[in-house]
Amino acid sequence: MLSRKILLFGGKGGVGKTTLSSALALLISDMGRRTLLISTDPAHSLSDIFGIKPREGKVSVSERLDYLEIDPYRVIDEHIKRALESMEPFVSPETFSQIKEAMHSIESTPGAEEAAVLEELSKIVLENLETYDHFVVDTAPTGHTLNMLKTVGRVGGWLEELLKKRMEAQKFREAGGLKSRDEKILEVLKERRERFSRFSDLLFSRKTLFVPVLIPEKLPIMETGRLIAELERLNLKVEYLLVNKVLPPDTTDSFLLMRKEQERRYLKEIREKFSGLRIVEVPMRERDVEGIKTLKELATELGRRLGI
Ligand SMILES: Nc1ncnc2c1ncn2[C@@H]1O[C@H](COP(=O)(O)OP(=O)(O)O)[C@@H](O)[C@H]1O
Ligand SMILES: [Mg+2]
Repeated sequence: MLSRKILLFGGKGGVGKTTLSSALALLISDMGRRTLLISTDPAHSLSDIFGIKPREGKVSVSERLDYLEIDPYRVIDEHIKRALESMEPFVSPETFSQIKEAMHSIESTPGAEEAAVLEELSKIVLENLETYDHFVVDTAPTGHTLNMLKTVGRVGGWLEELLKKRMEAQKFREAGGLKSRDEKILEVLKERRERFSRFSDLLFSRKTLFVPVLIPEKLPIMETGRLIAELERLNLKVEYLLVNKVLPPDTTDSFLLMRKEQERRYLKEIREKFSGLRIVEVPMRERDVEGIKTLKELATELGRRLGI
């Protein structure tokens, strides 16, 4: 795990993605690795878990650990603002207001949020490659994250098309002896294409590991099966499976004994279904995980079980 640059934690809502990704980030930063923990879930909770007031940009937790919560709506707004500014001088006020309206409707388009998160994530990772040894990503629940990862390919193809068209148009203009004001746009598009292709090379290489998190219950097991199948299709590496909130072995309470019996069956199913993976169980604690002290206790336990 420590040989990977990017560690993506994913899974169903509520299973412990934020908790375990934060614990791992704390653990490896305490071992001397410079770590940036990034949340791509619009329902952020890193500030809650670390007990720090939410704020924009990087937040420093300790000497080697920073975290950052990506706000997709801010990213989309900035995009629209920039695009509008670049258009305004060239169109009539009437057309401009129509374009403006159309652009703002993008905000609610399906996929816009995931595309914005991806854009920001790729920037953050590539701009900080030298600053950090590891990027630990606390992702949004399964569906959103898979959409985001699929966007990598789609954005690439879309940019490729756009660039081709732009370049053809420019060739014509140049042949006619006209200097194109599109040059700047072309440059921006080329830079984005370059960035996406660098990021997808990194994402789909051995430098990245996807760590699915689940709890020993029916629906999370089913969802994890679909998640892993999709990740394999996308060619993303999976090696570990974190089974969180496993009940203590020494339960005596009759209610808990029944839960434990059900859990035993699900743990067996997990071992059979995901036999190619290293399955790591994380015990359920007496209380919620909150604040650095409890996170550190969990981090030590997680490290012991992961063997790091
Ligand atoms: N091992 C654990 N023991 C006890 N509580 C846990 C454990 N892991 C997570 N929790 C609690 O479960 C809740 C959901 O965890 P969270 O990390 O926010 O899930 P996700 O990010 O996947 O939605 C939180 O209240 C968290 O404190
Ligand atoms: Mg979360």
